[in-house]
Amino acid sequence: MSASADVVTNERVAAVSTDVLAALHEVLGRHQVTEAEWRGVLDFLTDVGRADEFVLLSDVTRTSVLIDALSHAAEDGGVTASDVEGPLYREDPPWRERPVKIYADYEGMGEGDVLIVGGRVTSAEGEPLPGAVLDVWQTGPSGGYDVWDERQPAYNFRGRFGVDDSGAYEFQTMLPKPYTVPTDGPVGRYLELVGQHPWRPAHIHFKVEADGHVPLTTQVFFPGDPYLEDDTIGAVKPELVRPLTRREDGSELGLDRPFYTCEFDIKLRPASRS
Ligand SMILES: [Fe+2]
Repeated sequence: MSASADVVTNERVAAVSTDVLAALHEVLGRHQVTEAEWRGVLDFLTDVGRADEFVLLSDVTRTSVLIDALSHAAEDGGVTASDVEGPLYREDPPWRERPVKIYADYEGMGEGDVLIVGGRVTSAEGEPLPGAVLDVWQTGPSGGYDVWDERQPAYNFRGRFGVDDSGAYEFQTMLPKPYTVPTDGPVGRYLELVGQHPWRPAHIHFKVEADGHVPLTTQVFFPGDPYLEDDTIGAVKPELVRPLTRREDGSELGLDRPFYTCEFDIKLRPASRS
């Protein structure tokens, strides 16, 4: 109930929790759930809390996607689609100066492909928003997120940065790969029990803010990914799948190999329409 800046009122809590309990009690009765089974449910939820996996549980049960859809259902097609934040955001990422590069090389990163992502941040009408700030995070080409991979420096493949006077931004990263959500905790046990795979398609997370506009949280995906149609959290939106262009001459970046580019223009919703 706190997906936005909305105030959670006692009335909302009372109204929603009454219906939640009615639905839950109906399901428990229909399936004749036993004392041992219910105890197992409570133990599982206790484990989820201890492991700090409630956001992950919300994601893999596709509840986060539902809340995202409910929260943005009224938006017109003129702004960039939102998407779920997921559990891997870290507060206070480093500010990256231009030219923006969001990673440092690390041992074991493998032969990943360099990726340049760029675009413009504008209003729904296409007016540049020169004060916009982007905040991005993603997995590396191997080893996943920095928080899982001791070889990576802290905040690798994360960063905040601004746009220029025309609203344009650009950053250098590496092409992320599909990965599995954490499977060594209670949510992993749940996935195995219900027969749900843990894979997510490769993606880059974005948060974008500009004065007078509603902050946007979203993700960008890439064509041809084996999990585009079968994301374990169900978060892929067709309009957020952005084409990659392969550039054969990497010398302009000091590379002896090809690299990729991806364009992602971002249109923000005016705050007055919220
Ligand atoms: Fe992610």
